[in-house]
Amino acid sequence: MTQGSNPAKITIGEQVIDLPVLKGTLGPDVVDIRKLYGAGDVFTYDPGFTSTASCESKITFIDGDEGVLLHRGYPIDQLAEKSNFLETCYLLLHGELPNAAAYEQFENTITRHTMLHAQFDRFFEGFRRDAHPMAIMTGAVGALSAFYHDSLDIQDAKQREISAHRLIAKMPTIAARAFKYSVGQPFVYPKNDLSYSENFLRMCFAVPAEEYVPNPVLTKAMDRIFILHADHEQNASTSTVRLAGSSGANPFACIAAGIACLWGPSHGGANEEALNMLKEIGTPERIPEFIAGVKDRKYKLMGFGHRVYKNYDPRAKVMQSTCHEVLTAVGDPNDPLLQVARELERIALNDDFFVSRKLYPNIDFYSGITLSAMGFPTTMFTVLFALARTVGWIAQWKEMIEDPSQKIGRPRQIYTGSAARDFVPLSQRG
Ligand code: CMC
Repeated sequence: MTQGSNPAKITIGEQVIDLPVLKGTLGPDVVDIRKLYGAGDVFTYDPGFTSTASCESKITFIDGDEGVLLHRGYPIDQLAEKSNFLETCYLLLHGELPNAAAYEQFENTITRHTMLHAQFDRFFEGFRRDAHPMAIMTGAVGALSAFYHDSLDIQDAKQREISAHRLIAKMPTIAARAFKYSVGQPFVYPKNDLSYSENFLRMCFAVPAEEYVPNPVLTKAMDRIFILHADHEQNASTSTVRLAGSSGANPFACIAAGIACLWGPSHGGANEEALNMLKEIGTPERIPEFIAGVKDRKYKLMGFGHRVYKNYDPRAKVMQSTCHEVLTAVGDPNDPLLQVARELERIALNDDFFVSRKLYPNIDFYSGITLSAMGFPTTMFTVLFALARTVGWIAQWKEMIEDPSQKIGRPRQIYTGSAARDFVPLSQRG
């Protein structure tokens, strides 16, 4: 980053404080307020970090007004169309697309780390069968740090890399086991001659009683869905991973924290909520009544709106076409839910309530229908998101550890509680 020639000036009473203005490659300039407290004895107030950059990053760029998402400079639609998930993982981790030899080596490394320690399987059996798979994911991923002691030294670049590889490789195995456990089927082990996404689908849907035949349309859709979810700049779960990591916590613990954050309905849980909403609406005729409820603020239109995108989410466009491909291959292209979704989208994009608030479909609007048609229960949706986002989390975590300007995260506050007062013994309280 570079420093602009004109500083920002903040006036507090008689005092004028100059604050440097920093310039990135793309995006708005940033006022560097690091010296503000020292110089002016004031904090800034920004709940939800709507105006605050928490770090410098070279990984992902979003222009929310234009609906642009770039990973290391490459537009998401190009990656979704021309790349594959593992190549995108390499790009996010290393900053450049791999050449053929580097790709082969990376694919080989990830493929050979997919097994879990045999004792690890006992963890799954400790959970109730009806446990939410995200609860299992949070616990199981945190537990990885109890198994892989040889990659916990975060100061060692080689160990950081091994942890990153382990997480990307083992996440599908853990996610598939969480699913298999919930449906009471035996675990399926990874198979090294399959691609990342093919292997994951097989671990989820193969049963010992018959041969599993991969469906290339579903494999492509799965891979694309993973690419679309791979990273998304400093969102809530990524910021959680960075904050957890800023204390020096090990990468498995940090990713477990990210998974916990992602589970919330305003973040990764939204695709589950969006599908439930479409089912509840049921038919296009009920949409006006539903929209009236949204306007009365009884509930939100799930799968719409985004903190950063004030335009069509570029991932939603790819997701919409993937949805169509999947329904044509394995479902009903005239699925009533798809009809409800299309009509809801059409009405919302023309309704002043949504237009004036710049509420557009986000990635979750179509992902629920797609994943459901692929055979996943709604409880698995956020798990798939977590699986794909692991590479983003770990790339951001690595970047933070390797950034000398990063310190332990410690926001301040504006205190509005009681001023200091003397303790009153119980016998004297009214
Ligand atoms: N339905 C109806 N009204 C909405 C919606 C919605 N989905 N989203 C925002 N609004 C309204 C909100 O009530 C407010 O109206 P007003 O100004 O009259 O009070 C206005 O739009 C601005 O909303 P906001 O709450 O300031 O926006 P935000 O940036 O804080 O919230 C959001 C972003 C994603 C949490 C929110 O849009 C939302 O809850 N959407 C539904 C959940 C969802 O689909 N989440 C997935 C996000 S994409 C996946 C990911 O990246 O994690």
